[in-house]
Amino acid sequence: MKEDKPLVLIVDDNTTNIDLLVNTLNKEYRLGIAKNGFRALDYVKKQLPDLILLDVMMPEMNGYQVCSHLKANPRSKEIPIIFITAMSDTENITKGFSVGAVDYITKPFHAAEVKARVNTHLSIKKMREELNNQNIVLERKVEEKTIQIRQMLEATIQATVLTAETRDPYTAGHQQRVSKYACIIAEKMQMTSDEIQSIRFAGTLHDIGKIRVPVSILNRPGKLLKEEFDLIKTHSNVGYDIVKDIPTPWKLGQIVLQHHERLDGSGYPNGIKADEILPETKIISVIDVIEAMSSHRPYRAALGITIALEEIQKNRGLKYDASVVDVCLEYFTEHPELV
Ligand SMILES: [Fe+2]
Ligand SMILES: [Fe+2]
Repeated sequence: MKEDKPLVLIVDDNTTNIDLLVNTLNKEYRLGIAKNGFRALDYVKKQLPDLILLDVMMPEMNGYQVCSHLKANPRSKEIPIIFITAMSDTENITKGFSVGAVDYITKPFHAAEVKARVNTHLSIKKMREELNNQNIVLERKVEEKTIQIRQMLEATIQATVLTAETRDPYTAGHQQRVSKYACIIAEKMQMTSDEIQSIRFAGTLHDIGKIRVPVSILNRPGKLLKEEFDLIKTHSNVGYDIVKDIPTPWKLGQIVLQHHERLDGSGYPNGIKADEILPETKIISVIDVIEAMSSHRPYRAALGITIALEEIQKNRGLKYDASVVDVCLEYFTEHPELV
């Protein structure tokens, strides 16, 4: 008997019926036999049949009860069950369907009918399995492609940022560090993986607009003139223009545009307040301040992490989101080295 033949379990307490069914099906199928409901459930625990022929009238546990048990178990619920019944009245047939049977055969049965029904339901089961497998393969392909596209997007953004940073060596690595620490804080704040992704990309790009600020201003030592600072402040809008049309599911343009906004409306470019600022931006803007203050700039020496943390603590709930500040203070007190 070939292993690749479908396995049909016959559940019946009547030996004559069993013999008839065995004679009808044994050439085309592997057969299992259970003489009552309990044995049928035991059989299925050990080996999953492809289809079950289930007698309705059995002592102790009838066919409906066996069927209900099998359908309640995720492991066996997909097995097609055909009831074998002497009762052809509508009520009993309906009851069989309501507990999960796919079909019924009435006794006395004809060999050709039994074969045809078994064949049909095994074919349907096979098609359904193939469809499920195809769906699994397709889902995997979509997942792989999504990862690939995300990696390509990440690599493209990195290349763009590295190119931009060659003009501004003092802030080289600033955006990557902001991205990295903003993601750490977002994770600690239990933001969704989608929000964390948007923070990763927006953090990496947030100062991209500085590409339009003349190198002579970006690299000039000493305190900046007001006009020079005004020119630097345009980088939020310029960054928005660069990023806004990148087709992603995230609000990268808005986050870049808002990254110098403050809760009290004292930020730029639009002086928006509190809830007008996106949650992702609230994290990036605090990390941006910490990273910038901790690092060396052409116009000043590094102020260090302690002063940076004092700044965010002083303005907790005023300029900076209180819960972001709390998580940052806890994290950076434990990890004072920005790597
Ligand atoms: Fe900036
Ligand atoms: Fe920045």
